[in-house]
Amino acid sequence: MSADELRARILALVAEYATEQWPAKGFLPGVTPVPVSGKVFDGTDVQHLVDASLDFWLTTGRFAREFEASFAAWWGLKHCLLVNSGSSANLLALTALTSPSLGERRLRSGDEVLTCAAGFPTTVAPILQNGLVPVFVDAHIPTYNADPAALEHAIGPRTRAILFAHTLGNPFDLDQVMALAEKHHLWVIEDCCDAVGAEYRGRKVGTFGDLATVSFYPAHHITMGEGGAVLTDDAKLKKLVESFRDWGRDCWCEPGVDNTCHKRFDWKLGDLPQGYDHKYTYSHLGYNLKLTDMQAAVGVSQLKKLDGFILKRRANFDSLRARLTPLASALILPEATPHANPSWFGFPITLREDAPVDRNTLIRHLDARKIGTRLLFGGNLLRQPAFKDIPCRVVGDLATSDQIMNGTFWVGTYPGLTDAMLDFIAASLAEGLGMA
Ligand SMILES: Cc1ncc(COP(=O)(O)O)c(C=O)c1O
Repeated sequence: MSADELRARILALVAEYATEQWPAKGFLPGVTPVPVSGKVFDGTDVQHLVDASLDFWLTTGRFAREFEASFAAWWGLKHCLLVNSGSSANLLALTALTSPSLGERRLRSGDEVLTCAAGFPTTVAPILQNGLVPVFVDAHIPTYNADPAALEHAIGPRTRAILFAHTLGNPFDLDQVMALAEKHHLWVIEDCCDAVGAEYRGRKVGTFGDLATVSFYPAHHITMGEGGAVLTDDAKLKKLVESFRDWGRDCWCEPGVDNTCHKRFDWKLGDLPQGYDHKYTYSHLGYNLKLTDMQAAVGVSQLKKLDGFILKRRANFDSLRARLTPLASALILPEATPHANPSWFGFPITLREDAPVDRNTLIRHLDARKIGTRLLFGGNLLRQPAFKDIPCRVVGDLATSDQIMNGTFWVGTYPGLTDAMLDFIAASLAEGLGMA
């Protein structure tokens, strides 16, 4: 048999294996776990993974190129750069803005970046990692995004950028953020790690700011295991992100390719001698944050399922909301931001002050029934040990972020959840509150 025939046979066997190895399972309330999130995959995804491994190219290759082109087209953006995580995507998006090649608009040490106090740590960490100063704006319940009222007063003389996540797939107020950015000449990075497919005034989030970031960790809208992406319409920013991602190099050749610029040995840059190999010329203090082609291959097949996943997440959210409406006297239920069509990553719930039980009692009750819950990531990030003594500016008293830290949790909306599971979540919440 030829190598091609053997490959076809292996892939056919992989499909058979996947059917046997991961059969559809029944649901037994209280026994079967009801996770908050998880990878939803089939034999095609496993075939892609094996196909890429049989190439044994290992580093970024044909699947990464295919994914970057298809994913950029899906967003309606010009450029997508794959990286090894959503955290790396945030680090690269912000670090790109520190490049000296941006001249006066370059972010410099001590410049301020507006961010939200309630959220995920690696939305904020890149600000500090770059010697910039985070300005913490309070969050808002029940949208869980930066509070528009607080944001109004947040801009100071050194504020240069805004980096917010669209929390749990619910867009932040893009009318306000983009108006502020225009007025004060601020960069905008949209952390879309939890919000792929969310829309604001009918347009995809991630297409408003200068740069957008995505995560492909298994909990996310589509997965590669580990992975992330930076997206932008701006060719200059694309080149900067690429440079910081790929060791800081000035050269932009694909892995395994030489002399894309046709003057590999003709450059004169920095204090290097004339003709120093462009492949080993560094214009930035960079990293290596690329992923492997096996990860990208899984992304290629997952991407084909993305639209269906988003619809199912929205449907699960709507079903849960309808089921939980009778509990609204004890629970604050989530609301979409005005003009937004979220792509819900989860279903956030905050206990009212006079609720019959506290948050921790309620999530323990759910846990005993095998229903997964998560807190809203780091709660008020400034209360976290890692953020204790950081240089920062705080707008207001962050009382709502504290309320989120003390009283909020979320349950799943991911496409693997069935109606029976959603019924069980609602019934268990009612029981836990003594409202059954
Ligand atoms: C809002 C947000 N940003 C960034 C990340 C980091 O993504 P990753 O886990 O791929 O590093 C996450 C992770 O879930 C997230 O929720």
